[in-house]
Amino acid sequence: MQFTDTPGSLSYRFAVEGMNFKTAGSAAMRIKRLLLDVGYEPQLARRAAIIAYELEMNLIIHGGGGQLAVKLSPDFIEIYAGDQGPGIPDVELAMQEGYSTAPPQVREMGLGAGMGLPNVKHWADVLKIDTKVDEGTRLRAIVYCTQSK
Ligand SMILES: Nc1ncnc2c1ncn2[C@@H]1O[C@H](COP(=O)(O)OP(=O)(O)O)[C@@H](O)[C@H]1O
Ligand SMILES: [Mg+2]
Repeated sequence: MQFTDTPGSLSYRFAVEGMNFKTAGSAAMRIKRLLLDVGYEPQLARRAAIIAYELEMNLIIHGGGGQLAVKLSPDFIEIYAGDQGPGIPDVELAMQEGYSTAPPQVREMGLGAGMGLPNVKHWADVLKIDTKVDEGTRLRAIVYCTQSK
């Protein structure tokens, strides 16, 4: 599973640095601005921005940094996050509310509540996770423009 450009859609990519909390959330903010500027419904932009934010934070906290990307099409918004970090050994466990392996210094910042992936699952219409221990993690979330949540 790779992030590929599709004819007729617009793609934007953002590099996300591991453990850099100074700029944390800025890629997701730019994605939200972009979506609103090109005219997506605010509720769709909001859902996509929440997903992008959670995936961006996971790239920072867990993935050792990586790439956040968004694809804009008239029918859907696709958010992609890819890293070459430690991978997720047990995806089912990682999807559970409250489960987190965030280190203490991250929890002290009020992060690492273990609600990120459940939140992504809630707001996405489709969520695909491709992960391998010691190789990395790729997540793809789709928000359809026709559906309302
Ligand atoms: N990109 C990633 N690379 C490795 N592990 C990840 C990644 N994203 C999530 N995880 C694992 O899944 C767990 C749950 O993620 P999440 O629900 O976002 O909670 P939190 O980020 O608050 O820990 C994380 O604590 C971590 O163990
Ligand atoms: Mg998280």
